[in-house]
Amino acid sequence: MKITLSVIKADIGGYVGHSHAHPDVVEAVKEVGKEAVKKGTLIDCDVLVCGDDIALVMTHTHGVDSPVVHGLAWEAFQRGTQVAKKLKLYGAGQDLLSDAFSGNVKGMGPGVAEMEFEERPSEPVIVFFADKTAPSAWNLALYEMFADPMVCSGLVIDPKMHEGFTFEVLDTFTGKAVKLSTPSELYDLLALIGTVERYAVRSVWRNSDGEIAAVASTQRLSLIAGRYVGKDDPVLIVRAQSGFPAVGEILEPFARPWIVEGWMRGSHNGPLMPVSFRHATPSRFDGPPRVIAAGYQLSEGKLIGPRDLFDDPAFDNARQTAQMMADILRRQGIFEPHRLPSEEMEYTTLPKILKKLEGRFYNLEEGKKEPVEHQQHADVD
Ligand code: 13P
Ligand code: 13P
Ligand code: MG
Ligand code: MG
Ligand code: MG
Ligand code: MG
Repeated sequence: MKITLSVIKADIGGYVGHSHAHPDVVEAVKEVGKEAVKKGTLIDCDVLVCGDDIALVMTHTHGVDSPVVHGLAWEAFQRGTQVAKKLKLYGAGQDLLSDAFSGNVKGMGPGVAEMEFEERPSEPVIVFFADKTAPSAWNLALYEMFADPMVCSGLVIDPKMHEGFTFEVLDTFTGKAVKLSTPSELYDLLALIGTVERYAVRSVWRNSDGEIAAVASTQRLSLIAGRYVGKDDPVLIVRAQSGFPAVGEILEPFARPWIVEGWMRGSHNGPLMPVSFRHATPSRFDGPPRVIAAGYQLSEGKLIGPRDLFDDPAFDNARQTAQMMADILRRQGIFEPHRLPSEEMEYTTLPKILKKLEGRFYNLEEGKKEPVEHQQHADVD
């Protein structure tokens, strides 16, 4: 039987500020999932929380892009938003950009990662969920899991992985995608996905038989809405073991934190800190960005789990390193490269400031005039 695993997430209100989701809101979302399992629309449903974002992890047989499943997620987030509004939580309904559901939540705000596959005799999967960052945060990790043998030994020693993997890369500016096969096109892949403000890995397939291995949510809310509505805190599904990377090979990239876009006001670079479910509460300078890893075994579509995979002392050093990286970056304050380049910021006053200063810029070569009058204006303001 073919199973579809759908993970659909949204920020529908923060408690307090952008640091977490309120238990009553999470409960309202869970309730819709439970009803759907009872009715038989879903085989199973679990709800994950990372920071102020809530994800529905759903198994079913409706395939990807199903209006039934997307409608259900929409309904769950609507009901959660009602509670969030009643509690006057921060940014209630933040990621629900449209009032009417029209069959598919893509482009409406929620982030979506879905894959359909024949369940193997044993089917371990990991759902990663990050807050205070963007979909391209997964680029480095996916490269290491599926194309770097110094991280994923299986690429060399598992015959089923030896032919490598194909990456589908989305150009978030044009909406076009390109498929690149590794190891042969590895350097082309890296040229694109190292450009994190533009390119994001969407899917990964195994070359030997075309099996789906990983799918990420690639929605960028700021581009959907054309104005600031919050960074598109992403999810990622990865299948593990027997022909895919082992669970530990999939987790290994996170043992060495790297820097991602997001953090305060979606406008800063910061380390991605792997944390247990309990510590997915970004508070320091609204961060640093967090990632959780929920492990499940599927059994006839039932979600056996989750196991809180970063709840392991072996990741303590990574957390400590992330803290140090956070301190180093915070020293930069409002200065780049801690603050993002202006075109990548989610909030900016730069156009307004430039407008205000329009007449005050002068050419140093012609006349070398000192802008004395303007200086006085500034004092009066
Ligand atoms: P076990 O011997 O514990 O089953 O581990 C096998 C393995 O492949 C670990 O990555
Ligand atoms: P979220 O994208 O998690 O809502 O965070 C937005 C923000 O402005 C944090 O400072
Ligand atoms: Mg928020
Ligand atoms: Mg968030
Ligand atoms: Mg960005
Ligand atoms: Mg966000």
